[in-house]
Amino acid sequence: MNVGLKTQILASGGAAVAAAARILAQGGLVAFPTETVYGLGADAGNADAVARLYEAKGRPAFNPLIAHVGDRADAERIARFDATARALAQAFWPGPLTLVLPKAAGAAVSDLATAGLDTVAIRVPAHPLARDILRALGRPVVAPSANLSGHVSPTTAAHVQADLDGRIDLIVDGGAVAVGVESTIVGCFETPMLLRPGGLPREAIERVLGCQLAQPPADADHDTSKPLAPGMLSSHYAPRTRVRLDAARIEPGEALLAFGAAIPEGAERASAVMNLSPRGDVTEAATHLFGYLRALDAKAARTIAVMPIPHEGLGEAINDRLRRAAVGRE
Ligand code: TXA
Ligand code: MG
Repeated sequence: MNVGLKTQILASGGAAVAAAARILAQGGLVAFPTETVYGLGADAGNADAVARLYEAKGRPAFNPLIAHVGDRADAERIARFDATARALAQAFWPGPLTLVLPKAAGAAVSDLATAGLDTVAIRVPAHPLARDILRALGRPVVAPSANLSGHVSPTTAAHVQADLDGRIDLIVDGGAVAVGVESTIVGCFETPMLLRPGGLPREAIERVLGCQLAQPPADADHDTSKPLAPGMLSSHYAPRTRVRLDAARIEPGEALLAFGAAIPEGAERASAVMNLSPRGDVTEAATHLFGYLRALDAKAARTIAVMPIPHEGLGEAINDRLRRAAVGRE
């Protein structure tokens, strides 16, 4: 790793893509934009690089990572697809959908990256820079969100720099991301299961499947010995400031994370106000969620009070991240 040295930042373009592929091939760590959030990439098949990635994030090593590939043919080299998986890949790749599938024998994904599981999480990102880097490297890249473990995911290169400067080799700056929350994760088990709500709404997936997605057992979040999506620790997304949900009235000294045109009682007393979407659009709200949480967290308010967000479309993913942010850590 690059500890102590300043991390190089390159604006998007051919030189940045070439540098990213070269550094990844040499076992280095590169942050790059995807359409959902910025990812911190390492060569999936290089266990030393993956170990450095866990170290750079300060991430517990039992969290398996998502392997990013350039297209469906590359995906079929590392996992076994059934008809359901093919239908979902056909409908939604490239895009914000991750599929958990049985890992193929000889897959170029180290056991460390999959935390010893016999399944592998895969996605084909839609961001042109991510795809160019994957194509230039020609191998799967594991990439968790490019933040320190426990922090909210980065949606700009500046967020990545704030968390990981000096800990990784390169940040490729592609501007603000389009979606703003992480990919939706579907476990392609006997009954397809929604392991994590995310940037692709559940409704779109269920339309293609022609049936409802199964829900993980209610205690799956807490049982880290037998995890379904083991990274989904309840407090995964927590900012430092306490978060209060479904706020209908604002107390003095609270910061307000608003949604829609209605102003809650006491809003004039808020120490800071940011509105996820004044016109009440959940897709727009998703693009602002992590950036606004970071900004309000920096205000040292007593509490971040969050107005209710409708539970439809990307609202399910937003409410999932907010619920985790509100759990708080010891
Ligand atoms: O949008 C995204 O998915 C971003 C961008 C960078 O692609 N990546 C991301 O990665 O959110 P990360 O590491 O923060 O989250 C990966 C999630 C974790 O909850 C992990 O437990 C789950 O994927 N996961 C990975 N492999 C799994 C597997 N074999 N079975 C079940 N869950 C798995
Ligand atoms: Mg993450």
